[in-house]
Amino acid sequence: MNGRERFLAALAGEKLNRPPVWLMRQAGRYLPEYRAVRAAHGFWDVCHDPELSTKVALEPLKLFPLDAAIVFSDILVVPQAMGLGITFGKGEGPQVASPLRTEEDLAKWNTAGLMDRLAFLPRAVSHLKEALKGSHGLLGFAGAPWTLFCYCVEGSSQDEFQTARVLLHTQPQLAKRALGILADAAAELLEAQCQAGADAVQLFDTWGGLLPADSYAELVAPALRRIVDRLHAKNRKVLLYVRGGHHLLPVLPSLGLDGLSLDWRTPFPAARAALPDGVLQGNLDPVLLFTSPAVVKERTRAMLASMGDGRRCIANLGHGILPGTPVESVKAMVDAVVESAR
Ligand code: CP3
Repeated sequence: MNGRERFLAALAGEKLNRPPVWLMRQAGRYLPEYRAVRAAHGFWDVCHDPELSTKVALEPLKLFPLDAAIVFSDILVVPQAMGLGITFGKGEGPQVASPLRTEEDLAKWNTAGLMDRLAFLPRAVSHLKEALKGSHGLLGFAGAPWTLFCYCVEGSSQDEFQTARVLLHTQPQLAKRALGILADAAAELLEAQCQAGADAVQLFDTWGGLLPADSYAELVAPALRRIVDRLHAKNRKVLLYVRGGHHLLPVLPSLGLDGLSLDWRTPFPAARAALPDGVLQGNLDPVLLFTSPAVVKERTRAMLASMGDGRRCIANLGHGILPGTPVESVKAMVDAVVESAR
């Protein structure tokens, strides 16, 4: 069975001799091949050019026996296309030129013709799909509304996203409207990627874990539910990654997700108890990739054992691969999953 067949079988809940494996941020700065492309091209230029985005998305598939590819893009394409002006400073993460603080700021968000300005992303998906010829599963993705809201309000990467969390409660109407706009954009963008050939889509809620469960349930979950419902109406499969989301496990099942991508602190058994029929993905600590191939293999085997019978499971990291990660560790992890086949 090839990677795509294995990936689809896991999503369908079929019994497999091992789970499929792919890694969040598998195409990125830890790869010399990616850095070479970035030395010659700007980040947005790589996203916008289907030849380049396909090239960097394929690199990790050449190096490791992965079962799925993820389109090369970024969650911040949505605020970028709405006119917030996103740039990536050297090492400091994203910068937003026009952050969201007031009703006037929100009124400036340019949503007319948004999907035309984002057409490069489904185009990148179909280009990658053609190159794969069915060999690997293919994921599309988008930022979850709350995480995009965090960047839009804060204007840069922060540990606590205090301005965003304060605004959520001081201007709840403004926040709800913004989250609704971001949800509609995510739903449309994910559907466009499915139409272009994505086998499943993943929402990234990197900063979801900053919120307590009651705020998440009341203010964020409705926006997520709207996205899931719209994609389910078209029979699409939707996974959600939440960083630091262990305390949100009681809330997440109500979203109707097909699967949950666990961070490294959320154990598989706890997530399985919350989502008995869902696909669970994860969750090796990405920092472990800085140890040694022997430790990586041992911890990967322990992670696989924590999946129980491994049904409805996908092996992955608990967060994206960090810049500077040794390539040999990534290989050790993927090999350990492949070697676990019974
Ligand atoms: O293989 C892949 O997964 C690549 C596709 C991908 C990127 N970003 C490319 C990228 C994906 C799935 C993302 C998701 C993303 N982007 C998230 C959610 C997942 C997570 O890691 O939490 C978030 C929060 C972002 C926002 C973002 N984009 C940040 C914070 C940064 C700068 C810091 C960093 O990690 O590099 C980016 C830029 C970015 N997105 C890069 C890449 C390869 C590096 C840009 C460069 O080449 O200089």
